[in-house]
Amino acid sequence: MTDQSDLLRRAAQVLPGGVLGSHRSGPGLEFVVREGRGAYLWDMNGRRYLDYLLGSGPMLLGHAHPAVVEAVERQMARGTSYFLLNEPAIQLAEEIVRAVPCAEQVRYTSSGSEATFFALRVARAYRRRDKVMKFEGGFHGTHDYVLQSVAPRSPKAFPAPMADSAGIPHAIEGEVLIAPYNDLATAEALIAAHHEELAAVLIEPYQRTIPPAPGFLAGLRAATRRHEVPLVFDEIVTGFRFAYGGAQEFYGVVPDLACYGKVVAGGFPLACVAGPTAIMRHFDAALEGTPEYVWQAGTFNGNAIACAAGLATLAELRKPGTYERLFKTGTRLREGLRAAVRKHGLAAQVSGEPPVFDILFTDRPIVDYRATLTADRDRIKRFNQELVRRGVVKAANKIYVSLAHSDADVDETLAIFDQALAALAATGA
Ligand SMILES: Cc1ncc(COP(=O)(O)O)c(C=O)c1O
Repeated sequence: MTDQSDLLRRAAQVLPGGVLGSHRSGPGLEFVVREGRGAYLWDMNGRRYLDYLLGSGPMLLGHAHPAVVEAVERQMARGTSYFLLNEPAIQLAEEIVRAVPCAEQVRYTSSGSEATFFALRVARAYRRRDKVMKFEGGFHGTHDYVLQSVAPRSPKAFPAPMADSAGIPHAIEGEVLIAPYNDLATAEALIAAHHEELAAVLIEPYQRTIPPAPGFLAGLRAATRRHEVPLVFDEIVTGFRFAYGGAQEFYGVVPDLACYGKVVAGGFPLACVAGPTAIMRHFDAALEGTPEYVWQAGTFNGNAIACAAGLATLAELRKPGTYERLFKTGTRLREGLRAAVRKHGLAAQVSGEPPVFDILFTDRPIVDYRATLTADRDRIKRFNQELVRRGVVKAANKIYVSLAHSDADVDETLAIFDQALAALAATGA
């Protein structure tokens, strides 16, 4: 077996920052995954971690779920990717249409970022306007139109956007309007003032780990409908996680378009845009050469392996009691973390719904992005590091819960939450 420290050294040579993207475990805590099974990861040294990162969300069934492995192996023997219609792709689209209230048709992409990119493009084609509105703090992937005001340290006045990355053309800032999440009056006023130029309003219905305030999504739905601006739900995290029909089922508000990713493909690279035929028809290649045509294609879109994995995952999720179990596990973890916060007398909020939530070190209730700015960034980093040190992995700002986490896993996790918070309380850091 290759030595882990040697692999980490080699990673630092050939991968910028020695990592794959934005996730890091911390100095001296980085590890290389040897394998994942169920709720656990193992590193190259054979150390076991309880996994609440879950591949950044998709592994709702846990790693290497037997039903998914079997479906993928069966498909593998027949080939992986054809760039042509295949039965799993058609069946998965049918299942998404059955599950998702706003969906009549589905267009596949290979990542969530592409899904939000093409949802905006098709909304522009349909609405024949250019600008898009998104919410401060909302994350929709890494393309130029959405990496705007995701994490500004000193936010501007609404609706001015701020690019979150180097390399984004300044011109894009003229195409994006920013609204405050959970502030219906301001969002409504911005939509009323700018509807003539708006192609779409894009939102994470559950923004990061902030639930929508009562009436917020319904009010946004009414305002967008009033002005005939397509409302796009980014369900890449919430889809098939909050309910089989996603956040639109869970919160009871149906958008015009929705983007799915992560869970829908059971850990393989596949995502999609879903919506009514009236909008989705712009993707139809029969329109090629007309001003209505939206060019969208990708080498791996609708590949049979990802679709087979998605179908197997959704079949597991349809089993009776699945979501009750997920919510029960998540609730135990969330309430246990809240109890530990109280026990150690820390100023912290445990924010979010049971399937995915997090802790923020602030005494301010977490209702919007600006409230999250009051949270101590060093403390959450330190908390995450104390967890990794004790064998628990989570996302930088999320605790993803899976169906593979057992009651014993929850007990073990809560004991480690307690120890990590005790370490923070002891040093005051
Ligand atoms: C809400 C949301 N939208 C979009 C994306 C982007 O998806 P991907 O990483 O597959 O491009 C993510 C990824 O975490 C996400 O959380």
